[in-house]
Amino acid sequence: MKRILAIASGKGGVGKTWTSVSLSHALARLNRRVLLVDCDVGLANVDVQLGLRPSVDLQHAYLGNVAFSQVVKPLDSLGFDVVSGRAEANYLHGLDASIVTWMLGELDHIASAYDFVILDLPTGLELGIRELMLRADYPIIVTTGEPTAMTDAYALIKAMRRTNKLRVPGLICNFAEHEQTGFETLAGLVRVCERFLDVKPNQLGVIRRDRRVPEAISRQTALLECYPRSDAARDISAMAKTFLTWKAGR
Ligand SMILES: Nc1ncnc2c1ncn2[C@@H]1O[C@H](COP(=O)(O)OP(=O)(O)O)[C@@H](O)[C@H]1O
Ligand SMILES: [Mg+2]
Repeated sequence: MKRILAIASGKGGVGKTWTSVSLSHALARLNRRVLLVDCDVGLANVDVQLGLRPSVDLQHAYLGNVAFSQVVKPLDSLGFDVVSGRAEANYLHGLDASIVTWMLGELDHIASAYDFVILDLPTGLELGIRELMLRADYPIIVTTGEPTAMTDAYALIKAMRRTNKLRVPGLICNFAEHEQTGFETLAGLVRVCERFLDVKPNQLGVIRRDRRVPEAISRQTALLECYPRSDAARDISAMAKTFLTWKAGR
């Protein structure tokens, strides 16, 4: 069973955290057991988007103050579990090698209790991010149609491709004006990856730009709860269904 999905982007602000939260929620609504881990240590946002007030987080577990299982919190109203990246204490900044090794060990123990473990990664190309992407079963990259986001998504894939350990990644286009333009963005990125990197990413789907997304975040509630019929809610729900049958490969 392939279960660890890591969500990265290269560029910031493309919607990694929102996609991670909403995909977790959509999969939970399909009766899948989901754990969402906020790996953006130091700049964590999952708790903020959902209005959580975690008393303990990933950092407490890493520092040995509590067991990892104690930082796994069930969100009863949403139907999935979450590990927050930041509580009131903020000791760590970024994903260094020792955190990544520790986290992979902990996930190894706990992942079998879930159908999907979703890692919301920090922005950038740093080593810890690439390592988690390389070790995940489904490395997923979020882009938008902007050339900057596409360039950074390509740079991330290129950096990982050098290692020969990259599994076939999945691509998501967020902030699309229309479904069709989003798929054109993805097709363009797939073409350059095939041509220059000899890898053909899977097109996981397109999420349309939707003013309901920032509205839901401002209210610190999940979009699928407050605007289930919005464009972005429909898009993420449709995408979640594609994960039920997807097989990761090298
Ligand atoms: N499909 C969308 N339509 C409109 N706004 C969006 C969409 N996806 C994300 N956003 C907005 O973009 C902002 C950045 O998203 P976030 O998930 O924090 O990005 P990242 O984790 O990649 O930095 C959010 O605050 C949200 O308001
Ligand atoms: Mg984020």
